[in-house]
Amino acid sequence: MLTRSRRAIAAAGRKTRLARVIAAALASPYRPILAQVVPTRRCNLSCAYCNEYDKVSSPVPTETMLKRIDRLAALGTLNVDLSGGEPLLHPDLDDIISRIRRHGMFAGLLTNGYLLTPARIERLNRAGLDRLQISIDNVAPDAVSHKSLKVLDQKLRSLARHAEFDVSINSVLGSGVSRPGDALVIAKRALELGFGTSVGVIHDGSGQMVPLAPEARLVYDTISTLGRSFYSHAHDSLFQGNLIDGRPNSWQCRAGSRYLYVCEDGLVHWCSQQRGYPGIPLDEYGQRDLERENKSTKSCAPTCTVSCVHRVALLDDLRDRPLATIDGLVAAHRLRGGRPPVSVGVLRWMFLTGRPSHLFRRLAMLAARPT
Ligand SMILES: C[S@@+](CC[C@H](N)C(=O)[O-])C[C@H]1O[C@@H](n2cnc3c(N)ncnc32)[C@H](O)[C@@H]1O
Ligand code: SF4
Ligand code: SF4
Repeated sequence: MLTRSRRAIAAAGRKTRLARVIAAALASPYRPILAQVVPTRRCNLSCAYCNEYDKVSSPVPTETMLKRIDRLAALGTLNVDLSGGEPLLHPDLDDIISRIRRHGMFAGLLTNGYLLTPARIERLNRAGLDRLQISIDNVAPDAVSHKSLKVLDQKLRSLARHAEFDVSINSVLGSGVSRPGDALVIAKRALELGFGTSVGVIHDGSGQMVPLAPEARLVYDTISTLGRSFYSHAHDSLFQGNLIDGRPNSWQCRAGSRYLYVCEDGLVHWCSQQRGYPGIPLDEYGQRDLERENKSTKSCAPTCTVSCVHRVALLDDLRDRPLATIDGLVAAHRLRGGRPPVSVGVLRWMFLTGRPSHLFRRLAMLAARPT
């Protein structure tokens, strides 16, 4: 009961902060919206589809990690997600999360969940974690992935009981996944527990789409309409849905600018699948790099499935072409069986097409201004 009210208070605070983050992202074109940082490359699992882990690396020293967080804050970064490898293997993860929060940035964690316990979740609460994504791929473990509901359901129940942060479950579909229908069972379990849900399409070693078999396509379509927010569903429909239907996407990937991937060696890369570009130390990364990469052409963009970078790109599209972007989202949402909420039409009128739209825009900027 106590957790539920604490969770509601924390969620309300996050909503206000989120409005400010969106306003800040829309206000300045080169500010990094999301950085994904690797506190350790090591992982306690070996998913067959993954090229982002090893079995030998030591955790990045805590002082080094804290300096990297400070540097990201100095660049104006708005969100920091800790990924890996398995980030919960880092001994001082809570200190890193606290440092992210102390700078006023959103703190996220991507984890396979194996090391979660009620006590560990309480520590994450105290550190100020904002959101946690737990990856679950199947109902029972198999040769491709041990991230199964059978092993992790107990962790999900602990999260439902103790977590004050937002929780979502991510599953993957695609090459090597033998029972695509499992993703649907997992998505329903997520909703039952009050968690968010997302599904990623497995990419190859350079972030490119691997075509989905018909059964997996059907599962993808069903999951994408399950209790998702308009923005998440429409966004996935727009980018991943196109790829699943065999159409490349025409978009500007702003990796290296609005999105940064910082590896265990402290180098900035476009993303986990395009490491080495530009491969510049974070300490030396500056405004010129952010501006260059904002406009650079990435030949991998048309069939890229790295969805967090798509999401970031959408904010720029909203900034540059608000009407066309909202109408595109609504169309993609409808195409995959969704019905846009009335609020989208009202907001479109208030901020974009209605006569007093300039007034609403000014009021919104004032309300979202950092205090
Ligand atoms: C690299 S993992 C790191 C964090 C943590 N170990 C985990 O599994 O959540 C982050 C996310 O990338 C996803 N992922 C890894 N390889 C992928 C691939 N080839 N295609 C799509 N998603 C992938 C994982 O399922 C997970 O949700
Ligand atoms: S648990 Fe995460 S990092 Fe580890 S192998 Fe699986 S996807 Fe990769
Ligand atoms: S388009 Fe961008 S996010 Fe996608 S693989 Fe290429 S660099 Fe990475």
